[in-house]
Amino acid sequence: MASHPRPVPDRSERDPGGGERRETIGLVGAGRAGSAVALALAAAGHPVVAVTSRSAAGRERAAGQFPGARIGTVPQVVTRLRAAEVVFIAVPDDAIAPVTAELVAAGAVRAGQTLAHLSGRHGLGALAAGSAVGAARMALHPIMTLPGTTGDPDVFAGVPFGITADSVAEARARGLVVDIGGIPLAIEDSRRDLYHAALVLGGNFLTSLTVAARETLAAAGVADPGSALAPLLRASLDNALTGGWPAATGPVRRGDLGTVQAHLRALDAVDPAVAAVYRALVAYTAGGLERAGLLEEPLADRLRAGAAADPPRAGGPDDAGGADDAGGADDTVAGNVGPEPPR
Ligand SMILES: NC(=O)c1ccc[n+]([C@@H]2O[C@H](COP(=O)([O-])OP(=O)(O)OC[C@H]3O[C@@H](n4cnc5c(N)ncnc54)[C@H](OP(=O)(O)O)[C@@H]3O)[C@@H](O)[C@H]2O)c1
Repeated sequence: MASHPRPVPDRSERDPGGGERRETIGLVGAGRAGSAVALALAAAGHPVVAVTSRSAAGRERAAGQFPGARIGTVPQVVTRLRAAEVVFIAVPDDAIAPVTAELVAAGAVRAGQTLAHLSGRHGLGALAAGSAVGAARMALHPIMTLPGTTGDPDVFAGVPFGITADSVAEARARGLVVDIGGIPLAIEDSRRDLYHAALVLGGNFLTSLTVAARETLAAAGVADPGSALAPLLRASLDNALTGGWPAATGPVRRGDLGTVQAHLRALDAVDPAVAAVYRALVAYTAGGLERAGLLEEPLADRLRAGAAADPPRAGGPDDAGGADDAGGADDTVAGNVGPEPPR
């Protein structure tokens, strides 16, 4: 199946002006994400005029990154912040609303200005204090992990940005994203929680699953589990992104209850927390395959029930992988499996 290379940004989406438009930028919180976005905007021709940091070390770092900007605490750069056309409040999610209120109280926000944050979870409500004084709001969330600034202005090339914006700021939001090579993706304000939950499932929990697989493989005696997993995981990810449930393979897809039970016995002995994740994923996968018409209901039910129950001891009557394999319980319904999966 086809892989998912980063799409090439459509520069034709730039605002009228074809790149001539310049927005002056203020940055509150020169951490990982804020610095990366501001550096990319500066490289795209948007002058960064003010950067705040609460610490001397942060201000020193910012001075090296943004030589044309005034650097300081909020009170020290309040005039420049107020003059900026767009101010990014790139602080931790929980701090966005209180920092916005502090900026308003300090006089750093004005009507006609646009306040932005980079959070996936939050919509426009976190910037409400700004709209109370006439500023427009936008949430520009890069769907990318930014572990530290590399200084690479192309770090956002082909990266989708979840955008929620006041209508007066929509064109500006899309224009800034396109200018740094990103792909605008409109998200309704009321659906930000769901949007962000999806990204955590696919991104953060992919990390968790990968770590669980690595540690379990190491417990099975494999010296370099990362290398052993890499081809399988990469192919599985590409296939799932492209194909969804029809790309699924493995014991749940095949209806191999005996194999599932054997896995649960092994996992329960090594790490019950991983066994619990495996149980939940058997139930979720069986349901998904069933809804997709790839696993018949009785077999999905048996897999769900078999995963929920304590697995029988090895060699017991339900152990389809044991010595009495031919008489194993799941053999009686093996013919109920849907279309033959890719192996
Ligand atoms: N990093 C990522 O992978 C990533 C990806 C997408 C979106 N985001 C979003 O980007 C935003 C910032 O995240 P980040 O990862 O860049 O965090 P970060 O590296 O911790 O940077 C946040 C900065 O905010 C400042 N700060 C922290 N607490 C503050 C407070 N209470 N009041 C004022 N300033 C405060 C700190 O700067 P000083 O101490 O120097 O003042 C810090 O450098 C979040 O909304 C996050 O969801 C992050």
